Amino acid sequence: MYWVSRAGTICAMALDRPFGFPSGKAKCKMDLAMSHPRWFGRWLVAVAAWCLASSAQGGDFESTVRPIFERRCAACHGEQPQGGLKLDTQRHVLEGGQSGAAVVPGYPDRSLLLAKVVSGQMPMGGEKLPESEIDAIRAWIDEAGRSDAAAAELRLTEAEVLPIFQMRCQTCHGKRRQEGGLDLRSLASLLEGGDSGPALVPGKPDDSLLLQRIVRGEMPPPDMLFENHVKTPTDAEVALLRKWVADGAQPSEYDEPVADRPLSDEGLSHWAFQAPVSPEPPPVENAARVRNPIDAFLLRKLEAKGLSLSAEANRDALMRRAYLGLTGVPPTPGQIRAFAQDSRPDAYERLVDQLLDSQEYGERWAQVWLDLAGYADSEGVIDEDRLRLHAWRYRDYVIRALNSDKPYDRFLTEQLAGDELLDYEGLESVTQEHVDTLAATGFLRMTPDGTYGSATGSIAERFNVVADEIEVLSSAVMGSL
Ligand code: HEC
Ligand code: HEC
Repeated sequence: MYWVSRAGTICAMALDRPFGFPSGKAKCKMDLAMSHPRWFGRWLVAVAAWCLASSAQGGDFESTVRPIFERRCAACHGEQPQGGLKLDTQRHVLEGGQSGAAVVPGYPDRSLLLAKVVSGQMPMGGEKLPESEIDAIRAWIDEAGRSDAAAAELRLTEAEVLPIFQMRCQTCHGKRRQEGGLDLRSLASLLEGGDSGPALVPGKPDDSLLLQRIVRGEMPPPDMLFENHVKTPTDAEVALLRKWVADGAQPSEYDEPVADRPLSDEGLSHWAFQAPVSPEPPPVENAARVRNPIDAFLLRKLEAKGLSLSAEANRDALMRRAYLGLTGVPPTPGQIRAFAQDSRPDAYERLVDQLLDSQEYGERWAQVWLDLAGYADSEGVIDEDRLRLHAWRYRDYVIRALNSDKPYDRFLTEQLAGDELLDYEGLESVTQEHVDTLAATGFLRMTPDGTYGSATGSIAERFNVVADEIEVLSSAVMGSL
């Protein structure tokens, strides 16, 4: 087929993850639902498998790979599959598991499954697969993975083609604009069609207006591309649309919502699920060194190894450490003198309180959160590195939040949805608190973003920015590797 030579292009594109969702609040909400990782995973597998599947013949999953999976993996990847991954049929292997695609046909080195057997992580708890079997799996992914059988098993659905409409058409045929009276956001709206009738005839690609207009090079209109930040569909995308229509324009198969799996006893014993209890400080040999209960826990462990706490720091060193630790800057000569002259028994405690109350405390510790948020004063894209004239408002918000002891849950909620917490259009007067609630959402604008430039502002690039932002959020609050 004529588009086969482009197969590599779209596969590489899919792997570069160009699809997330467009910027703009309303669109984000709509597209969040569509960008469900599992949905995206299925789409990616479908595109990768389909475009490669058609470029080679044969495929020996049944004779070479399946027996290995049956012997070494079936116990855990059969009826009740671990990691959501079933390894019993080629289709299930291609569908992947909880992490998305386990196999990227044609790309063994990008395939999670191969990585897991090469590292010996899988089969879990068992002996590593012999090199010959690993080679067989690699060869299947590389060569045989491109079989027609794999393609035939992949029935394209609406979910697999909607991203194409989203990227290439919806700027003009979506929620806000419906050129020619046509809305291209769902199968239903395609069938309903525009001024000239249905855009689609299931089973008949050549009779379908949308394919006719694309093939003739009329859609998207060449003279409107640049100003609308749209690019024309690739040959491979057109082929995907054609196959979908030829297969009868199947609707999406929505996954039934799955009930949360109850945790096993072992899972429930994880420390994160235990109610906190206040433990008794353990007994220690050198009780004289214990100033507060935490010291007892530390000393206990040290003593078990034949160690003890270091000698006490002198007063000057202690003060200097307090300054550096809490404000990030050393004390001035005046501050050194003032502390030296303070003979009150609780002088050190007072100093710590004073530093915690200082403006510098927030400035020092905001750095940690601003690093997680990827704070930057410019857009950070080569050739499109404009200054962010208002970024400092977000920076100052973080500093104020720390200095005012804002509770963490509120701190996080404001950064993710401050604009939803406040009817900012109906305010009679604006307070600092109002400003903070809105400035907090600067968190969501901190990844490199060049999309204001026409050359770097295509819809695919906007998707990327939002995808990056989700990565920032999840690595900041859910732990990172
Ligand atoms: C003794 C049980 C066991 C066996 C045998 C086993 N696995 Fe797994 N596998 C697991 C568990 C548990 C997970 C989920 C946790 C994880 O990802 O580490 C998993 C996850 C995976 C994943 C990641 C799935 C995803 O989407 O996150 C892959 C790929 C995988 N296994 C491949 C294999 C292969 C290939 C074999 C056989 C060569 C195999 N496993 C044998 C227990 C097993
Ligand atoms: C930059 C704007 C723009 C983009 C992007 C765009 N179109 Fe259009 N489209 C138009 C305009 C303007 C018309 C009405 C004039 C015409 O029919 O040529 C139209 C009309 C159509 C019609 C005819 C509707 C009818 O019933 O008469 C179809 C079909 C169509 N577009 C399909 C597509 C497809 C498929 C894509 C994406 C691959 C796309 N368009 C992308 C601007 C756009």
